[in-house]
Amino acid sequence: MNAQRYDIYSLIHKGLRSCLTEALINLGRVDLSSEAELGTVLVQVGDLLEICRGHLHHENTFIHPAMEACEPGVAAGMYSHHDQHVVMIGQLQSLLAQLQQCAAEARPQVAAQLYRKLAVFVADNLAHMHEEETDNNAVLWRHYSDEEIHAIEQRLVQSLSPGDNARYMRWMLTAMNHQERETLLTAMREQAPAPVYEGVLSLARSNLPLPEWDKLELALAC
Ligand SMILES: [Fe+2]
Repeated sequence: MNAQRYDIYSLIHKGLRSCLTEALINLGRVDLSSEAELGTVLVQVGDLLEICRGHLHHENTFIHPAMEACEPGVAAGMYSHHDQHVVMIGQLQSLLAQLQQCAAEARPQVAAQLYRKLAVFVADNLAHMHEEETDNNAVLWRHYSDEEIHAIEQRLVQSLSPGDNARYMRWMLTAMNHQERETLLTAMREQAPAPVYEGVLSLARSNLPLPEWDKLELALAC
């Protein structure tokens, strides 16, 4: 891992790891007799699966072609791993629908199936993200400057709808550390349109634990 090079995966993968593991833990401990609690967790799992589906599409569209342009065939394994994830997401979504529709007495068995299958999906994603952060970064760093890698990321971010942008940023902001937040928001204040910066700031204000928000606000005021 080359610490001084720009890591296109770093912050988004922190957000994804948080989203993946929090959904798994909440699904494992949900009160199956509470319609409200179960409803909330099923929405969370559904959101996770859509976030993962979107993320692999973004990598297929913006990162892998950049790798392939310099080393044809180098992203073949990544494309097929993403295809496997699409199949897993489909299976998880049909189990999720089953749990939403099944009778109360069938919930423990269906919930256990969904939970175990989601755990395998989480495990596979954690290993997959490590591969991207090591092997894919090595390819990008061999052929692109940090500015060029940053430009690939900006093209990806600009392709997102405002809703999707907020969805990913919400998980990234809460999963990154104070220094990463300060760096990201300072750069956005200088480079992004004011409404975009204000939008991310309000996401931070409404999703960060108060002591962390206070620390960030103070750092940005300096
Ligand atoms: Fe990926």
